[in-house]
Amino acid sequence: MVQIKDKMLELPVIQGGMGVGVSLGGLAGAVAACGGMGCVSAAHPGYREADFHNDPNRANVRALKEEIDKARAISGGRGLVAVNLMVAMRQYAPMVRAAVEGGADAIISGAGLPLELPGLTAGSSVALGPIVSSGRAAKLILKTWDKKYGVTADFLVIEGCKAGGHLGFKEEDLLAGTAQSLEEILPQVLAEIAPYQEKYGHSIPVFVAGGGLTGQDLVRFRAMGAAGVQAATRFIATAECDASQAYKDVIIGAKKEDVRIIHSPVGMPGRAIRSPLVERMEAGERRGPDWCANCIKTCDPAHTPYCITHALIEAVKGNWEEGLFFCGAEVEGVDRMSTVAQVLEEYRAALERA
Ligand SMILES: Cc1cc2nc3c(=O)[nH]c(=O)nc-3n(C[C@H](O)[C@H](O)[C@H](O)COP(=O)(O)O)c2cc1C
Repeated sequence: MVQIKDKMLELPVIQGGMGVGVSLGGLAGAVAACGGMGCVSAAHPGYREADFHNDPNRANVRALKEEIDKARAISGGRGLVAVNLMVAMRQYAPMVRAAVEGGADAIISGAGLPLELPGLTAGSSVALGPIVSSGRAAKLILKTWDKKYGVTADFLVIEGCKAGGHLGFKEEDLLAGTAQSLEEILPQVLAEIAPYQEKYGHSIPVFVAGGGLTGQDLVRFRAMGAAGVQAATRFIATAECDASQAYKDVIIGAKKEDVRIIHSPVGMPGRAIRSPLVERMEAGERRGPDWCANCIKTCDPAHTPYCITHALIEAVKGNWEEGLFFCGAEVEGVDRMSTVAQVLEEYRAALERA
């Protein structure tokens, strides 16, 4: 059991948010139903809505609330339901408000530093969990929240260099293998949270993420002071994951040599499978957007080499030619379909053995 603000998390495992459309209410609800924290991604949850192209913001706000409801219904009241929000999104503030109005238990926020987050959730009981990739980022967020809002984090996620999706590390370090490991970052973050735990009189549970963390890793990192783990790629190959079977098959079939570090219009490096789109980008091709949702703060549609929203939507639908298939560094270890209950049972059994 781990206390997250005023709620208890039975199993210290978070299913990492996966946009676009990979983790919605179906997957998040199934994880919560087993006692974990399921996470709905707020990156274009409305991509299947009829009005998405005409009014993406409205479609996304509505869909996010529906997906939270769906997760809650599937969970049967067990576990926790969180929303993952990327700071890099232009619609960050309205989507934070939608997550609060939709009744999410927690907001997990990264892809940038969520320095303004407490201001957007003031007066609500939602738990706040920033994502960091260094002790320095944890320090900056906690200091800003303390000074500006008089609050601290309710929990924290450290996303290491082996995670999928956008990565908070320098591309050179990722390619050269010189990025700090989770084992190095964890003690730095634990040192940064210590004064705030004391000041605010509660613990700030830390979850580590990235690299297909297993039950054994959960036990190992708990011994080092973490509260739990966040995992994502292994949840894609489950019956309950909201992506198409074609996406799941891409994950199951991927080998280590198929994994690439890519440039994202978000302005961060990312980790994805070498698909035809990735190969075209590596060859220097440019395909600007046919349509723009105006979604990423740093994206300039006139110059971006590709539209990340289009590429991620095509991936979740299973379009191998056009899609950008994010994955973690240890994707090769995911070689068969399973159920969410089976994945979570592995963690539970490891904890019980320990
Ligand atoms: C397909 C995919 C999409 C992801 N999308 C997001 C996202 O939208 N926001 C985010 O904070 N992290 C995202 N991530 C990172 C995960 O939430 C998680 O922290 C990380 O992948 C954990 O490592 P693992 O996949 O090796 O278990 C994504 C990861 C994957 C594989």
